[in-house]
Amino acid sequence: MEDASKVVVITGGSRGIGRAVALKFAERKPRIVIIHYDADLKAAEETSRLLEQKAVEVESHRIDVSSKADVNDCFEDIISRLQRVDVLVNNAGITRDALLMRMSEEDWDTVIRVNLKSVFNCTQAVIRAMVKQRGGRIVNISSVTGQIGNPGQANYAASKAGIMGLTKTLAREVASRGITVNAVAPGFIRTEMTEVLSEKVKASLLQQIPMGRAGEPEDVAEAVYWLCSDGASYITGQVIHVNGGIFM
Ligand SMILES: NC(=O)c1ccc[n+]([C@@H]2O[C@H](COP(=O)([O-])OP(=O)(O)OC[C@H]3O[C@@H](n4cnc5c(N)ncnc54)[C@H](O)[C@@H]3O)[C@@H](O)[C@H]2O)c1
Repeated sequence: MEDASKVVVITGGSRGIGRAVALKFAERKPRIVIIHYDADLKAAEETSRLLEQKAVEVESHRIDVSSKADVNDCFEDIISRLQRVDVLVNNAGITRDALLMRMSEEDWDTVIRVNLKSVFNCTQAVIRAMVKQRGGRIVNISSVTGQIGNPGQANYAASKAGIMGLTKTLAREVASRGITVNAVAPGFIRTEMTEVLSEKVKASLLQQIPMGRAGEPEDVAEAVYWLCSDGASYITGQVIHVNGGIFM
């Protein structure tokens, strides 16, 4: 991804890991499309401001990526105007934690829809354009939880493990079209998603990290960016773990 005429779409790009990914891509000055679903537009506006400061052309859309119809409308508009999508980063995600014994059906369904079905929705909306272009990069943000599990996160772990399976399958389906599909699985990263955890939970998570610190959004962004670089063109169907050693 080393061309100023390229288009990079990042879901969940208003803050946290998605914002860090956008700012990392900004170094190459592609056109950046941010998708988010924040009720408060402040974070998305701040991300746009930071990107514009770097002389990047940015647009921001507030849509629910779990809605197939809304995703189709949004991507049809993006592709008809910009003519291409070179990079899709499926990063939008939520948690609704509870022990399985007590987990509501609604919390199960919501997390699967927002974290997993959204990847299906957004990917299906861009894949024809990528095939036509004869190239593209898709990076799906999974989680170490999808690999090793975590009490209280059955819905989240299932969605993130599902992303790994989807990634490997799609990688096989489109490899001959010059499209790579990979996943990045972060560990414990300092964002709004983890800010809400109690001090006790945070301390116990930190104890499990051989490197002894939480990761920063930028740690994840580096891996995503690299997977989209020319140097990673022979890498597909992989899950890259960015977790300070929690899972090896
Ligand atoms: N923070 C961590 O420790 C960690 C660890 C592993 C994986 N992850 C994953 O990384 C990704 C980003 O997490 P984060 O920590 O930056 O979270 P965050 O809560 O800071 O940001 C989440 C982003 O997703 C967007 N989003 C949420 N629901 C959406 C919907 N229905 N439609 C469109 N956009 C929606 C939000 O608007 C926001 O932009 C998530 O997929 C998360 O599961 C995070």
